[in-house]
Amino acid sequence: MTDTTHRDGSTRTRGSAGADPDRAARRRGSLDDIRTTYADQADTVARMRPLDRLLVGRYRRRLFDRATGRVLDVACGTGTNAEYVPETAEYVGVDVSPAMLREADTELRRLGRGGTLAEMDAEALAFRDDSFETVISSLSTCTFPDPLAALGEMNRVCEPGGQVLLLEHGRSSVELLGRFQDWRADAHFEKHRCRWNQEPLTLVSRSDLALREASTKLLGVVTAIRAEPG
Ligand SMILES: C[S@@+](CC[C@H](N)C(=O)[O-])C[C@H]1O[C@@H](n2cnc3c(N)ncnc32)[C@H](O)[C@@H]1O
Repeated sequence: MTDTTHRDGSTRTRGSAGADPDRAARRRGSLDDIRTTYADQADTVARMRPLDRLLVGRYRRRLFDRATGRVLDVACGTGTNAEYVPETAEYVGVDVSPAMLREADTELRRLGRGGTLAEMDAEALAFRDDSFETVISSLSTCTFPDPLAALGEMNRVCEPGGQVLLLEHGRSSVELLGRFQDWRADAHFEKHRCRWNQEPLTLVSRSDLALREASTKLLGVVTAIRAEPG
């Protein structure tokens, strides 16, 4: 298992064309594609929550436990992160998929926690500048048609002194697995609208966000990132 921590804002480039952000950026879905894909998958994603908890739950908990104040969960999907955001925080989730938001509503009720959900494009958030103390997002930059635009919006709505917490997946640091991801990248994108070999740290380094901490887990596939508005 890979566990690499970067606290100095440095980024790491894995030398594969599959991790090339320009090449990855050519795989872009439209918002309609994304809605259609998740209309089909929302129920399955919700039912797979126990597996998610097993594989990714501890990383979600470790990162999102740090969320404070008014918290925006960008591309909240089925509301999986609500379980990991402290009860003392005010949870606001947005997503472009009505089907995923319906599952998120069920999840908030199951958890018995308050919160607000809204259908919204991550690349054009309908919030004023500096509206949130914490912005979180998970497993999402791989799906956004224009991930840099979405990171720009997270930067904009996060207040000065606040934090942006991202839990993202990307190309494995285990070369064999990384090559498999490169090989299947187009097929994976066709089915899931997900660029699974896109490198999240490279994206963040190209955004306005100021990277503060990053650690990579689970065969180098999952990266936890703490950034501040730049
Ligand atoms: C793989 S799911 C991740 C959901 C959730 N964050 C999680 O960790 O389980 C990706 C989500 O991104 C949403 N999404 C993709 N593009 C979006 C956009 N431009 N604006 C808002 N949501 C978007 C999809 O609808 C989907 O719910």
